[in-house]
Amino acid sequence: MDDLKQKYLAQVADAGDEAALEAIRLAAVGKKGEVALKMRELGRMTPEERQVAGPALNALKDEINAALAAKKAALADAALDARLREEWLDVTLPARDRRQGTIHPISQVTEELTAIFAEMGFSVAEGPRIDTDWYNFDALNIPGHHPARAEMDTFYMHRAEGDNRPPHVLRTHTSPVQIRSMEKMGAPLRIICPGGVYRADYDQTHTPMFHQVEGLAIDRDISMAHLKWVLEEFVKAYFEVDGVDLRFRASHFPFTEPSAEVDIRCSWEGGTLKVGEGDDWLEILGSGMVHPNVLKAGGIDPDQWQGFAFGMGIDRIAMLKYGIPDLRAFFDSDLRWLRHYGFASLDQPTLHGGLSR
Ligand code: PHE
Repeated sequence: MDDLKQKYLAQVADAGDEAALEAIRLAAVGKKGEVALKMRELGRMTPEERQVAGPALNALKDEINAALAAKKAALADAALDARLREEWLDVTLPARDRRQGTIHPISQVTEELTAIFAEMGFSVAEGPRIDTDWYNFDALNIPGHHPARAEMDTFYMHRAEGDNRPPHVLRTHTSPVQIRSMEKMGAPLRIICPGGVYRADYDQTHTPMFHQVEGLAIDRDISMAHLKWVLEEFVKAYFEVDGVDLRFRASHFPFTEPSAEVDIRCSWEGGTLKVGEGDDWLEILGSGMVHPNVLKAGGIDPDQWQGFAFGMGIDRIAMLKYGIPDLRAFFDSDLRWLRHYGFASLDQPTLHGGLSR
């Protein structure tokens, strides 16, 4: 037994890698290893002999196993050391100054407007892009036969025959999040909801997927005056100028009463889009006082509460601020365009630090 011990412990000490250790393990303590063979001999011994040899063989087996485990750990440590010595990194080297990726203007503008509305006490709410037609239409006071459904150029989700789940649509606006937020949080309420929306439409200022930001404020004494003030404050902060001409036009939406659309003064001269000058107007949002039926659908008592809501086109206001003349380019993923109009990833827009530098 002593010979076995000396032999295997010496082999373990000399082993250079895991494969060698495994070979030693099989030869020594494997099922057909030398120690196992010795254990088989126990049967032929007298009980007295067996009482001495049995525990001694077990101890030998344990000792060889322990030596194998210790050597295995030591080999792993040595391998890690060698790797660490090889893969060194000089953290004092200057950063590469070539910009790699950029922040897309839509993401940038979403951050900017979130910062502005946060300052006015609005928190960010979210809802699904695929929603039921109840949230997208009915709850917003747009019943099945209403012409607004047709006007919206809705994408309906395919339904298999016999599917009796409620019909789903790609949301045509962010207004369904009004209902979801009322259900979740009740009144009073002050939220914005930025996100993607879908309509079957395609030209220089329309793409089938675009972005809106919904605004909703519900409280006890809210009027059109609050709506107008909030929008004017927003536009001043967003365009980083004091004078931007806004035009409030009387309009109609089933979910607001009264309703107004807001246009912003701009010019398109020479193919470049400029805000605040010229004789053209670009519509940027729809708005109004939340219709009592909409409050009811959201579980809020219209005799106690009232509110204003607006839905603004994020892509539109991005085009205006950054002079991007064609909306379709936003979604082409043309690297040259992205490098030109993209933002550095470390420019976090804040009101005090500057929105866009
Ligand atoms: N949901 C409307 C649209 O997409 C905009 C809107 C929102 C109008 C909220 C009034 C109030 O055109």
